[in-house]
Amino acid sequence: MTSETQKSGDTKAAKPKGHARLERNITLLAVCAFAAVTVGGIVEIAPLFWIDNTIEKVEGMRPFTPLEQAGRDIYVREGCYTCHSQMIRPFRDEVERYGHYSLASESMYDHPFQWGSKRTGPDLARVGKRYSDEWHVQHLTDPRAVVPESIMPTYGFLATRDLKVGNMGATLTALSRVGVPYSKDHIAKADEDLVLQASADGNAADLSTRYPKSQVRDFDGNPARLTEMDALVAYLQVLGTLVDVGSVAAQEDLAKEKGR
Ligand code: HEC
Repeated sequence: MTSETQKSGDTKAAKPKGHARLERNITLLAVCAFAAVTVGGIVEIAPLFWIDNTIEKVEGMRPFTPLEQAGRDIYVREGCYTCHSQMIRPFRDEVERYGHYSLASESMYDHPFQWGSKRTGPDLARVGKRYSDEWHVQHLTDPRAVVPESIMPTYGFLATRDLKVGNMGATLTALSRVGVPYSKDHIAKADEDLVLQASADGNAADLSTRYPKSQVRDFDGNPARLTEMDALVAYLQVLGTLVDVGSVAAQEDLAKEKGR
């Protein structure tokens, strides 16, 4: 019995076939592995070069206004992203706390995006219109005044710093080069629009022809000055307000129903 099995084992080892042969020949294995990875890679990556856009566009999404963009630059400069994410994941606890999960198209005009990976504070993807401007100014000036247990740093100095006006055209031009659809008209009126959006007596109709759903008002509670606080609050107030996620969610459900 023992000698028999040994015998048959010996004959098999002498002539490995199929996969066994592949596994025992290092050169053959390397060549075949390379071929498999190459074919797999081409199949996965190549189609991306032929699709116009990998992000599904949704209604309502538009580039930031010059004031919101300036606020966003301050957000990045001050490192708010080190404590705040802007990416609601499709988990029940997140959706119940922050609202509808983030859609890819909602950050399609963010360069660089602010998804973040650290949440010392809450996610801000849908913080727009959740609080009043006064609340934001007070919170940024002294977080402990409105949330006693807060560990957020104070940013009151933003209310005393004049917002730089004069280079928004260049900022929008740079963004248009990386694909944000700012037109010549947007770029030409960038500095004008920056000031207009933060003025108490601003012409909302004029701005909304270029930027639908734009909020026009004095954001920092000091109409006499255009400050960095104006820009940052304008930015916070637009976050998550452009896309009607309710109707997007309804459409998704409908598509799922159809697919079934
Ligand atoms: C050291 C971490 C830290 C940094 C940096 C930080 N925050 Fe916060 N933030 C927090 C924490 C913690 C909270 C929750 C307590 C509170 O509301 O103050 C918070 C809360 C907030 C809220 C309220 C969110 C909500 O849904 O209640 C806003 C808005 C906010 N931060 C904006 C900012 C902005 C803008 C900046 C940058 C200028 C910033 N934060 C920088 C930690 C931080």
